[in-house]
Amino acid sequence: MTPAAPLPAQRVLCRLADIPDGEARGFDPPPGSFIGVFAVRRGEGVFVFLNSCPHIGVPLEVLPHRFLDGRRERVVCAVHGARFRVEDGLCLSGPCMGDRLEIVPAEIRDGLVLIPEDTGR
Ligand code: FES
Repeated sequence: MTPAAPLPAQRVLCRLADIPDGEARGFDPPPGSFIGVFAVRRGEGVFVFLNSCPHIGVPLEVLPHRFLDGRRERVVCAVHGARFRVEDGLCLSGPCMGDRLEIVPAEIRDGLVLIPEDTGR
């Protein structure tokens, strides 16, 4: 039997219950980083992305936690209106169509949303 690979160090982003189902929450960059993350909850799952638009690398939201369109179906960049699929971050329309948001691998354990310790830039 081969030894299991060591698990990457993780940190707690929030409790899953902190994100209302169907909504999104933004999180400030950790100390020493300039780019935060945002998370979109879908039932008992969550999708986490770096908060950096692939168009020109700025944060997507203008108002706190406003990452989704009015129907809460797509992520929207408030700067030039690019729209992204929640499930994989693919840009479906706008100036960066075909590019993707950078996915942050997230895990839910004991009701906590965990992301890699070194997430951010
Ligand atoms: S900065 Fe996001 S669409 Fe231009």
